[in-house]
Amino acid sequence: MPCSVRLMRKEDIAQVTEIDREAFPTLWAPINYQHELQNRLAHYIVAYNEETVGEPEVKAAPAKHRTGLLFKMRQLFNHNRLFDTEMPPSSKQNIVGFAGFWIMAGEAHITNIAVRELYRRRGIGELLLISIIDLATKLNAKLITLEVRASNTAAQSLYYKYGFTQIGSRRGYYTDNREDATLMSVENTASTSFQTHLQHLRQAHSRKWGIALYRIAQ
Ligand SMILES: CC(C)(COP(=O)(O)OP(=O)(O)OC[C@H]1O[C@@H](n2cnc3c(N)ncnc32)[C@H](O)[C@@H]1OP(=O)(O)O)[C@@H](O)C(=O)NCCC(=O)NCCS
Repeated sequence: MPCSVRLMRKEDIAQVTEIDREAFPTLWAPINYQHELQNRLAHYIVAYNEETVGEPEVKAAPAKHRTGLLFKMRQLFNHNRLFDTEMPPSSKQNIVGFAGFWIMAGEAHITNIAVRELYRRRGIGELLLISIIDLATKLNAKLITLEVRASNTAAQSLYYKYGFTQIGSRRGYYTDNREDATLMSVENTASTSFQTHLQHLRQAHSRKWGIALYRIAQ
């Protein structure tokens, strides 16, 4: 099932919110993607296929807390109201995953990467990560960082595969269950050694999943 990647648009928000809910069920409210799309520091992409979709069901969430330091930063920068009452009309493309990062002073911080449960283990997480790394490198990020739950071994294996290493941890970072966050990063993304490693992985991914073009469309 070949997928394509493009920048996230307003009409993707309903489906992206649905995927966010499914991927992070213990959190009370999804990120406010309407605000994220207006945030010049934030960059979001979606993976989609051409299957037709109905209107996703997105219910307003109670305005409780989202966990972690990043969420608090977002509130500071965005005056995040958690959820707007009006949702833009939904895209007709089937959004199967999304990812995003914030970039500041040469550092890209991955905020989210998630794939619809039904579509997992089909190379889409990898496609999203390759695209995020490409975009961040193009925007002159030298360092890519992220936090991941200590128990989230699936996501950690994905990051390790792409050369991320553990650089520390934050005790009790996730306020829903006081779980620790593992901090991971990859440095010198523009270096020849990293780009060679990335190119090998991209070729292997392309052979396995039949994806011909790794290009982020507008
Ligand atoms: C993490 C996530 C994005 C991976 O997406 P995916 O499309 O299933 O991943 P892929 O099929 O591209 O797998 C790529 C690599 O990820 C790792 N991986 C993915 N799922 C895994 C699992 N269940 N167990 C172990 N490793 C796994 C493997 O290293 C895999 O490489 P391999 O195929 O050579 O073994 C997906 O599981 C997800 O959406 N999880 C919920 C949201 C989340 O936890 N996001 C991370 C927040 S930091």
